[in-house]
Amino acid sequence: MPRQLAASWGHVLSLLALQFLVVAVTAYGALSDDVLRNITVNEADFDIHNGGLLAPLLIPRVPGTPGQAKAQEHLASFFRTQLPKWNITWQNSTATTPATGTKQVPFANLIARKEPPWTKPGQANYLTLVAHYDSKMKPDGFIGATDSAVPCAILLHVARFIDEYMTRMHDEMIALGELGGTVPMDMGVQILLLDGEEAFVAWTATDSLYGARSLAAEWETSMNPAMSIYKTPLEQISMFVLLDLLGTAGPTVPSYFQTTHWAYQGMASVEKRMRNLGLLESTPAQSFLPEADKGPNLFGSAGVQDDHIPFITRGVPTLHLIPSPFPVGIWHTMNDDGAHLDPATVRDWAKIVTAFTMEWLDMMELFPEQ
Ligand SMILES: *[C@@H]1O[C@H](CO)[C@@H](O)[C@H](O)[C@H]1NC(C)=O
Ligand SMILES: *[C@@H]1O[C@H](CO)[C@@H](O)[C@H](O)[C@H]1NC(C)=O
Ligand SMILES: *[C@@H]1O[C@H](CO)[C@@H](O)[C@H](O)[C@H]1NC(C)=O
Ligand SMILES: [Zn+2]
Repeated sequence: MPRQLAASWGHVLSLLALQFLVVAVTAYGALSDDVLRNITVNEADFDIHNGGLLAPLLIPRVPGTPGQAKAQEHLASFFRTQLPKWNITWQNSTATTPATGTKQVPFANLIARKEPPWTKPGQANYLTLVAHYDSKMKPDGFIGATDSAVPCAILLHVARFIDEYMTRMHDEMIALGELGGTVPMDMGVQILLLDGEEAFVAWTATDSLYGARSLAAEWETSMNPAMSIYKTPLEQISMFVLLDLLGTAGPTVPSYFQTTHWAYQGMASVEKRMRNLGLLESTPAQSFLPEADKGPNLFGSAGVQDDHIPFITRGVPTLHLIPSPFPVGIWHTMNDDGAHLDPATVRDWAKIVTAFTMEWLDMMELFPEQ
């Protein structure tokens, strides 16, 4: 086991070059069939009525209302009780909105991180998994099950599933004296549960993305300690993987960006392999991720407006997991509730995103004999 670790992390670029080649030197590696088989989802976690990860989020979660506070408590208490070693911070802001007059509406982004224990501030690079937990103000009582209660619950699942593997990986590296200093060794994960994605009245540049705009602006200008590998928290994002509008049957998620198409292909391969191994439950007419073979000339410039915008405009590589078309008859209607979810599809996404995250972190290093 140790030998394998050393062999695969042995040849790395110099630190100076890393800053310009972050994507190129991630250690993305396919998981074996046996490891894929071990990636399971507990049905109770995604039950729409009782407890678990999802049900507490299936309420209106409009910023500045009690539902927002309940959602925050669910997310924070998950990490407090189940993953107490993850570093939890809030990034808060306020803004006026076109629906609320001069009142300052509060927005709070939850940031949950785990990185190798040897990393100093400004040293770790983070696979950044993102969803928004707020819900739209109108129509009254709107739940936003796909938008984005399910994506948030999926990210909680991913964090809990990978936690022990990450700890084992770090322990083994410490035992080997592999104390970091390269991008593949200094990989961490951060989960961003963002607030205020939705417009209060109608989508404009200022009535939308309240939490994401505040966070991206703050992270661009917060300076890490002098001599850090990454100057700002924004630069520490190795990839911004944004989940949105997931949970209904038969989604098709295009590959939006050529620069991250390789990561899309990685996730599409995970889906295909898990399907072929009989590990997924849903039976869609086509893959969730059908564009693995998309040609380079077929990438348009038109993406979908979402929480990645303040980040991608600042140069952050983005993988956007949002179906096109949006869930028909569901999106921004009262039908976007627990009853209209397809539980098999929800659990399949949880497995796929978990496996992708483990491939990103090169978890096969833990199973050298395979
Ligand atoms: C799969 O899970 C079982 C039970 O937790 C564990 O004993 C085994 O080592 C795992 N195998 C792989 C390849 O992950
Ligand atoms: C958690 O993260 C914050 C923000 O990066 C940092 O200031 C703080 O020291 C960290 N806390 C721990 C316990 O590592
Ligand atoms: C930020 O908002 C969260 C959630 O509302 C709250 O728990 C926390 O105390 C706030 N932090 C600060 C510094 O105001
Ligand atoms: Zn929405």
